[in-house]
Order: sequence, then structure tokens, then C-alpha cells
Amino acid sequence: MRADYNRAVRVLGIETSCDETGAAVYDIGAGLLAHALHSQVALHRPYGGVVPELASRDHVRQLVPLIEKVLAESGTALADLDGIAYTEGPGLAGALLVGASVAAALAYALGRPSIGVHHLEGHLLSPLLSDPRPEFPFVALLVSGGHSQLFEVTGVGRYRLLGDTLDDAAGEAFDKTATLLGLPYPGGPALARLAETGRPGAVSLPRPMLDSGDLDMSFSGLKTAALTLVRGAERRGELGSQAKADVAREFEAAVVDVLVGKSLAALAGTGHTRLVVAGGVGANRTLRERLAAAIGPRGARAYFPDLAFCTDNGAMIALAGAMRLHDAKAGARTFGVRPRWALTELGEPATL
Ligand code: KG4
Ligand code: ZN
Repeated sequence: MRADYNRAVRVLGIETSCDETGAAVYDIGAGLLAHALHSQVALHRPYGGVVPELASRDHVRQLVPLIEKVLAESGTALADLDGIAYTEGPGLAGALLVGASVAAALAYALGRPSIGVHHLEGHLLSPLLSDPRPEFPFVALLVSGGHSQLFEVTGVGRYRLLGDTLDDAAGEAFDKTATLLGLPYPGGPALARLAETGRPGAVSLPRPMLDSGDLDMSFSGLKTAALTLVRGAERRGELGSQAKADVAREFEAAVVDVLVGKSLAALAGTGHTRLVVAGGVGANRTLRERLAAAIGPRGARAYFPDLAFCTDNGAMIALAGAMRLHDAKAGARTFGVRPRWALTELGEPATL
């Protein structure tokens, strides 16, 4: 195994935690060289959500061709790779095992390290794929299907949890409210599209915990309030397409108000001037516009990943793996999956 990790490090990244198969090649010196993604949205749509066994089988079909594609596009031979990073968790156990197995097999065959990456660390670091790159330290708002969290990030592996959701995650609330409005899976983007035709202020929903004095969040009450609105309109025979769009608009506005309020409070509380937004809900345009507008006048700056790197992708795993391998004293071969894994349990790269 190679001992010199202080030079440019080139890593293949593999993401298979849920319903996207992702592969990418990231080089510490040259940046992102290639990435490819296969989405399983069409496969799961008839079931209204992700079917874990179908997800695993599709990862088996898609992963190796995707890896061959990114290696060819980046002009990388297998022997040029310094390591293979894969999503170790959290996620669906069977789906994770596909990526972990391929990474371990390649690592053994090539005599290189395999690096198990925390999926949320991938999301947290994904704004580093964009130009301009945020410098450490920063506050990160992580809003995905399973998480709504604020972190203080002072380096790779140095994450202090500032606030968390007490119940549903923001993306989960988007998805459930979308289902309530009869929108197809995946609900978040569909609800955001419907909200564009809603009338601002036509209906009213609460902004849960906006003034709670801490950085925690809660979205399940908001979802229930939306349910009450929808059922009431239904009973009165008034649930037409405009009424649905009005609920979508107010729901999105309520979530965005809470996320903006908590993010500003986190910046004020830590004294940091950089806010990084990551995770699938970070693709929401209203959230992006409102955050950028609210933060600018305070002398702070918001950083968003490119849309392609907001939702699950291989580039963020390759990036996190390359940064860990670059900073680590040595590289080992790891194999395993952790379907449940808190980001705060993660150590710094020296412990790789
Ligand atoms: O990060 P991600 O791709 O997967 C997880 O790790 O969870 O996030 C997926 C979540 C879903 O809940 C999806 O509905 C939501 O992100 N999402 C959005 C938008 N695009 C994706 N929510 C609101 N607006 C969007 N434009
Ligand atoms: Zn994700």
C-alpha cells in the first residue's frame, strides 16, 4: 500500500445509500474530473416511494457501468486511483452493501485503501465542489429527506450539532404534504413547482418553533395543520387546483421562514459569516433566494451546492473520501455499512 498521502490524491467515489446510483472521480489537485448518476425515480414511482429490495437490485445493475464511464471520461486508469470511497451509511442496508462490496473488491484488487464515507458528511462538504468554495469555519444547514440540522463546521470531521429537528425532517414534511395534495413521488420538487402558482397569503399556516429561542426545529405540526386545511377545503367542496396551489405556497413559505430564521440565529450565535446549505431541500429555489437576500445585508454569505450536487450524488462521496485520505496519516481498507449513524459520532481524518 502507498505511504505518501501528501501529494495529489485521486479517488473514485461511490454512492448507493438510497434511490440514486452515483459514481465520480475527484482529484485533490485538479478537482472533480467526472461524475455520473442513475436515478431510480421511474422505478419506484408506481409504488409511491422507495422499495428497498428493488433499489438494491438496480444498484447492482447500474454501478459497474457507471464506474467504467467516469473512469473513461476522466482519463483515469484503475491503477491511477489512490483510493475508493463509498457511502458507508446512513441509508438502506441492502443498497449500501452494493457500494461497499464493489469498493472493497476494487480496493483489494488494486492494493489501495477503501474509505467508508458518512453520507451526510458528503452533503455537508458538497458546496466545496462549487466555485467559489467556502473556507472553514462555516455554519451548515443540512436539509434532506431524513435530516434538518444546523452544524458548526470547523474542519473535515469537526462538526458540532447546533440544532436538530424534534420530529419530521423538512424534506419528509415536503414529501408527506405533497402526497396529501395528490402529487407524485418524489414530492418535494413537485410541491415546489405547484407552489409557484399559489397566491401568497391566501391561506395561513404556523411557523413552528420560530421563536423558541434555540436552534431546534419541528415540522410535524405544520404537516398536520396543512392536513386540517386540506380536509376542510375538501368538505366544503373547495379543493380545486388553485386551492391546492395556495396550500403548497403557504406550506413552502412556512418551512422556508423557519429555516431562514434558524440559520440567521445560528450565524449570530456562532459569529461565523459563512452559511453552507446542503441536502435535497437545498435545491428549493425559494429557500435559496430568501436565504441569500436575508444574509447579504448582515455581512454574511450563503453558499449553495450546484443543483446536481444538492440531491444524492457520487461527487460528494469522492470529494469527502479524497479530503479524508489526503489528511489521514495512513489509509486502511474498510468494509462495512452503518444503516443508522449519527454525524456527530464521526472522527477526524487522522482516525481513518
Ligand atoms: O439529500 P436527498 O437527495 O436525500 C436524502 O439524503 O434524504 O434529499 C431528498 C429530499 C426529499 O425529501 C425531496 O423531496 C427533497 O429533498 N427535495 C426538495 C426539493 N428537491 C428535493 N424539497 C423541496 N424543494 C425542492 N426543490
Ligand atoms: Zn442524501
